[in-house]
Amino acid sequence: MEKYLITGGLGFIGYNYLLNFTKKDCEYVCLDKVTYAANIDQLPRLLEKGNIRFIKEDITNRDAIFKLFKNEKFDYVINFAAESHVDNSIINPYIFAESNYIGAMVLMDASVKFGIKRFHQISTDEVYGDSQKDTQIIQFNESDALHPSSPYSVSKAATDMYALSMHRTYNLPITISRCSNNYGPFQFKEKLIPKIIYNAKNNKNIPIYGDGLNMRNWINVKDHCKAINLIFDKGKDGEIYNVTGNDFLSNIELAKRVLKILNKPESLIEYIPDRLGHDFCYVIDDLKIRELGFNNDFCLLEDLEKLVDWYITY
Ligand SMILES: NC(=O)c1ccc[n+]([C@@H]2O[C@H](COP(=O)([O-])OP(=O)(O)OC[C@H]3O[C@@H](n4cnc5c(N)ncnc54)[C@H](O)[C@@H]3O)[C@@H](O)[C@H]2O)c1
Repeated sequence: MEKYLITGGLGFIGYNYLLNFTKKDCEYVCLDKVTYAANIDQLPRLLEKGNIRFIKEDITNRDAIFKLFKNEKFDYVINFAAESHVDNSIINPYIFAESNYIGAMVLMDASVKFGIKRFHQISTDEVYGDSQKDTQIIQFNESDALHPSSPYSVSKAATDMYALSMHRTYNLPITISRCSNNYGPFQFKEKLIPKIIYNAKNNKNIPIYGDGLNMRNWINVKDHCKAINLIFDKGKDGEIYNVTGNDFLSNIELAKRVLKILNKPESLIEYIPDRLGHDFCYVIDDLKIRELGFNNDFCLLEDLEKLVDWYITY
């Protein structure tokens, strides 16, 4: 039976992946440090599936990770583990360098040593930097230069570079996906959509940065997970794949739509000073993964009501 190591498997995307996108005839080890962002109370649902085990560990713990690789003999690794909140990275960048870069290095070094068949690194569209240049919007493809703007995106960009160097130097079979903003269940409430919903539900002010016009591209977490499996099945070693959704929404429009669904007044919106270094938008070209056969099944504008309902009743 082939065996996967899924790091960060209790986080928003990793958890959705393990819940809905595992293969019945494979074995999975979910490894997570269990930070504040982990869905630890939801672990039993994963264990019930029968082919998933859980290990609490920090990917920066080199000795423990090497021992684990030696004992478990993984075939595949998908690295979801990361500190993921940009605001936190502005306050405390060090932990982002540690978990996102050093942690991924440890995993890749162990993967070289123990002969992994494929290492997939979950990256982000934020590595390209802001798509708005003067008055123009630029669309990035996988071979464009990286211009990360925040300590978070720097840590992700550095990891992508390390992954490519491991491929070049040691022939480590790596693939990288750079995805836009995910939406879906089990996301920690510091993130934009859950925060808007919780605050609106509790009649609390909804903080919106600057003029609220910053745009994000939104993809259903299920489409992201589907793309990851497609890259596993059809992607080529050493390649990067952009993954994106169909909807672009400004933060203010998103907040207004949620308020409307919940029948709450727009006066709950509170404009706050802009995030330092705030990127206006990220626009990426996803032709390469579409050529592998990828299509989005979902779109946020159709899913929003259901999503709001999920967070309200969760
Ligand atoms: N959420 C998005 O919209 C989005 C978009 C593109 C890419 N990504 C990337 O996808 C990945 C998953 O993001 P997410 O939104 O699920 O993040 P998340 O913050 O919800 O979850 C991250 C998980 O990683 C774990 N973790 C953190 N540091 C760890 C460490 N040192 N060792 C082991 N586990 C550790 C946490 O406990 C948590 O369970 C990240 O790499 C992120 O950069 C996220």
